[in-house]
Amino acid sequence: MSSKLGISSRALQSGAETAFLVLGKAKELEAQGKSIIHLEIGEPDFDTPSYIKEAAIKALNKGETHYTPTPGISELRKAIAERTMQDFGVEVDWKDVSVTVGAKEAIFVSLATIVEEGDEVIYPNPGYPAYEAGIRFFGGIPKPLMLKEENEFRMTSEEVNSLVSNKTKAIIINSPENPTGSVLSKEDVKGIVEIAKSKGIYVISDEIYKYIIYDELKHYSPIQFDESRENTILIDGFSKSYAMTGWRLGYIITPKHLTQPLQKILNLITSCPSSFSQVAALEALKGGLSSVKKMVEQYAVRREALVEEISKIEDVSMVKPKGAFYGFVNIKNVTNKTNLESSKLASVLLENYGVAVLHGTAMGSNGEGYLRISYANSIENIREGIRRMGRAFRELTNRKA
Ligand SMILES: Cc1ncc(COP(=O)(O)O)c(C=O)c1O
Repeated sequence: MSSKLGISSRALQSGAETAFLVLGKAKELEAQGKSIIHLEIGEPDFDTPSYIKEAAIKALNKGETHYTPTPGISELRKAIAERTMQDFGVEVDWKDVSVTVGAKEAIFVSLATIVEEGDEVIYPNPGYPAYEAGIRFFGGIPKPLMLKEENEFRMTSEEVNSLVSNKTKAIIINSPENPTGSVLSKEDVKGIVEIAKSKGIYVISDEIYKYIIYDELKHYSPIQFDESRENTILIDGFSKSYAMTGWRLGYIITPKHLTQPLQKILNLITSCPSSFSQVAALEALKGGLSSVKKMVEQYAVRREALVEEISKIEDVSMVKPKGAFYGFVNIKNVTNKTNLESSKLASVLLENYGVAVLHGTAMGSNGEGYLRISYANSIENIREGIRRMGRAFRELTNRKA
């Protein structure tokens, strides 16, 4: 008898974010009593600053527990527009700001709004996995731009240009980048916007790590170079800068012609973001950047600890990350000597040495030979985790200590 109890091809071929799967496995091992150091998940270990939590508690007590307009409460949208103006010196119409359920929803909904079957979308590889999965989900053709270690994993405008065809619909950029910590220069961003303008394509700019940047580097957004504001889709959120991952709050700033269609899709998927999370996010913005700066200072110290510990391990190396809170560690000597792929090595590290890291291929095919280490963790845990990794690699390659 024929059956209709199938699963859609979209669901079957859909990718998922592996960091959550590794976290699940690590938690299982912990439940069995094993000591695990968590360097796999991309989330601040800091608690949400208390003034933000208090605003949410107040909102709950005041009964702000209902639906809000689909694109979010106007006070928050206005505050986001205001902050964007302060950060980049450009005018933003608050009506083009839509608040989303995390930046992840913003990525999905931006692709849903612009991608037609067969459209090509350029994106960084290694890169945040939701880009490739989202492009495929909407019938687009993923065009990975293979980031090069010798370029410090930056996406140059020349490389972007070489991938643009008459089918290209959009270029996704992410600076500072997950997983490599690379930061695009002003020239990179400007050059990419110039390509987008001359070819009539979009730039989707995921700026979720924009405040987590080191060495006095400056963050640049395509919105600064796109005067007509027709090409730039800006994505950001509260998860990383304000340690608010569980509040599920992001936002998207769209060219005017995309705002209504995009909000229609948001309406369809989530109706609106969480009401009291929005009140808390408004407070986060009103409170300025001092709590963010304090956390970034801590990340900077941890980055140095990571660099130091990595330098003690033979056979591995790392480009010093310039932003975000990840190190992308080159382990090609270890994979060559052991004949084990990075995914296998990551499993061995977790199961036999109690350190959870993410294999580079979880962030795209071009991540083979690398491990992503999240240093949003205490200095002690970072040092201990990397020591465990060093011991593992010594034993696996049969070197003496
Ligand atoms: C580059 C990048 N974009 C977007 C997100 C999604 O963030 P959220 O949905 O928590 O706002 C993440 C989370 O890891 C990320 O690394």
